[in-house]
Amino acid sequence: MNLWELPFFVSPSDKQPLVYCGDASDGEIASGTLHAGENTYAIVDGFPDFVAAQALSAQTQSVVAFYDDRSETYDQYLHLTFLTHDEDEAQVRNGLIDLLELRPDSKVLEVAAGSGRDSEIIASRLGAEGKLFLQDISSGMLHKARERMRGSDVAVSYALADASFLPYADNSIDCVYSFGGLGEFPDIRAALAEMVRVCKPGGKVVVADESIPVWLRQTEFAKILSTTNPQFMAPLPLEQMPVQARDVCVRWVIGGVFYAIDFRVGDGAPQGNFDYPIPGPRGGTLRSRYLGQLEGVTPEAKELAHQARKKRGLSMHAWLEEAVRRAAADDLN
Ligand SMILES: C[S@@+](CC[C@H](N)C(=O)[O-])C[C@H]1O[C@@H](n2cnc3c(N)ncnc32)[C@H](O)[C@@H]1O
Repeated sequence: MNLWELPFFVSPSDKQPLVYCGDASDGEIASGTLHAGENTYAIVDGFPDFVAAQALSAQTQSVVAFYDDRSETYDQYLHLTFLTHDEDEAQVRNGLIDLLELRPDSKVLEVAAGSGRDSEIIASRLGAEGKLFLQDISSGMLHKARERMRGSDVAVSYALADASFLPYADNSIDCVYSFGGLGEFPDIRAALAEMVRVCKPGGKVVVADESIPVWLRQTEFAKILSTTNPQFMAPLPLEQMPVQARDVCVRWVIGGVFYAIDFRVGDGAPQGNFDYPIPGPRGGTLRSRYLGQLEGVTPEAKELAHQARKKRGLSMHAWLEEAVRRAAADDLN
């Protein structure tokens, strides 16, 4: 770890800024602790460890054990995924990274970076002002990423953390990337919300993972793939998408059995123009039709109706029945 990383990190549980305790020589931090209120995180072997303080579910513990155990051999087998579909891994990964719209000075977060197969491609696109933040829950995998990135000219930061509790400050990152991790996360909605929280408005988020399209699920092709890897039958995570997602694009890559979703981070939920008068006999506005009990009344008119009903001691139904009949009789006679 290096002192330049400190302003980017927060306590993952309450998002408070962190204070470093220890000795940093030439800005390099090999050990020590990070503090925010009651929370303390150790820096282990140069990585801030935000996982040790977290109570992991049994499922997440088994995911961590799985990847720690396989970190040494992960790279020997990963190419088989691409071989199965006669795809060029470098071409596929570069194509997905293109969607991030990187600039040389981008601050990029890679969630579930694994052994760093995409990290080195992202780093190759960054310049001296760029920064790459690599996060993973498996210490074994993060060590492999660091080995791969050794000698890179780009400033790289590593964090041992859970994707659902990212240790980065709000709006501190220009774009977020995650390949092959989502299906492992216990709470995909929380992880996507965290990616959006840390990403600056207007920044791109790109996530990709296994999910055979529904129209292929009954084919032998799908059955063969999912027998060895049931993850291929995972649903597309559209319901878990954050309301801030704009310009959403879904495509299928790697033999058409991995989804790739890219979107731009917007400000809150979308807003519409709901207040222009709608011409025609029904009248009103889109908002008055939603907020009013009667078709087309404004919230102000609704409130007046409430006051009048109360003064007359009538139910709303009785007051409306009488008011509408009286007004209609005046107009019709
Ligand atoms: C299939 S690997 C993908 C690694 C890499 N992105 C790649 O393309 O090769 C899945 C990665 O997700 C990580 N992971 C699983 N659950 C996680 C979580 N809750 N938070 C962060 N990373 C997680 C694993 O440790 C592993 O490195």
